[in-house]
Amino acid sequence: MAPEDLIWRPPLAADISALLCFEADCADVDGATDRSALTAWEPRLRSSEPLPAGELGEVLPVRGPDGARCEGLLVEVTGPAGTRIAAAGWVELDEKGPESRVYLDGRVHPAFRGCGIGSQLLRAMESHGRRWLAALPGGRSQVLRILFYDRAPDAQALFEQNAFVFRHAEDDMELKLGGCQRADAGLPSPKLAPEHWSSTIAADFFRIYDDAFGTRPGSSLTGADWHRAFANPRDEDFRPQLSLLVREGAEPIAYTVCHEQPEEDGSQRWLWITQTGVKPGWRRQGIGRALLAENLRRAAASGYSRAMLSVNVDNPEARALYEELGFRMMRRCTVYSKDI
Ligand SMILES: CC(C)(COP(=O)(O)OP(=O)(O)OC[C@H]1O[C@@H](n2cnc3c(N)ncnc32)[C@H](O)[C@@H]1OP(=O)(O)O)[C@@H](O)C(=O)NCCC(=O)NCCS
Repeated sequence: MAPEDLIWRPPLAADISALLCFEADCADVDGATDRSALTAWEPRLRSSEPLPAGELGEVLPVRGPDGARCEGLLVEVTGPAGTRIAAAGWVELDEKGPESRVYLDGRVHPAFRGCGIGSQLLRAMESHGRRWLAALPGGRSQVLRILFYDRAPDAQALFEQNAFVFRHAEDDMELKLGGCQRADAGLPSPKLAPEHWSSTIAADFFRIYDDAFGTRPGSSLTGADWHRAFANPRDEDFRPQLSLLVREGAEPIAYTVCHEQPEEDGSQRWLWITQTGVKPGWRRQGIGRALLAENLRRAAASGYSRAMLSVNVDNPEARALYEELGFRMMRRCTVYSKDI
């Protein structure tokens, strides 16, 4: 397909129904949803001012509910059957974590794959991401990220050809709350009664993280970065009452950190157990299992319908623990990145 056959323009609210069909057609081939499904973008598109169609790479600036910078890019092709969406891409700046990240999330319609559109879309998204990052104040690491679920290997080849590097793969696991979960293990010792997160004991959570994740590859956040990303009271999704810490005497030995995620249709609430860890000297004594079981009981009592978490594919020990508690695999999330 020649580049001149393609029209690149920002997506508009009027495109929503066509984009929903586009996503359904992609999902038939690719399986699970992308990171930024249209359900997440729809309200942003509806609230955006329409912009005139433009040259390759012109995008629609919109702001997410949290003030995050997000832009969309639509590729259309006109043929005998009319105009169809050939590809769509979303670019999003996330500064919550320890580094400035731009997420690139693009899809090509199955009928238009193998024509080079994916490479063009990826390069267009990358050039936008780079422009944003170049405009930020210095001092923080910067990275372009591609995060996707259950995608076929052809997409991964495209990322590698464009110098994106495999970072990690994690399995998202879920557990329905309210009745059948094995969240009844009980705490192993009365001394381990958990405390929930508060600013006065925030530093203790980090101390356990630092020790527990010291045994995991590539986990070495500073206190400031960890608090900002994982236990930030200004983050509206953070759930301090359900983020728990246990001590042996005065020593903090195990913790969980939890966040809330609304279900896609907004009807129910999921609890993300974002992180859990037990200090190395206290492992294999049932403390991790008991703490999570207590967390699940409290989540169910607080009205959550599901608990979810992610486990790295290189962490079979933690996975065994989650499976024992009744968590089951939902989907695999793979991350590619490029340092800037
Ligand atoms: C994963 C972790 C939280 C487990 O904590 P723990 O208190 O040692 O876990 P428990 O003693 O409650 O173990 C419960 C079950 O999990 C499984 N399990 C836990 N650690 C295991 C290991 N090293 N090898 C094999 N199975 C393991 C076992 O099925 C175990 O039951 P068993 O001891 O009766 O065989 C802890 O190893 C840890 O902090 N790891 C580093 C941080 C991390 O990986 N966090 C999870 C990120 S997703």
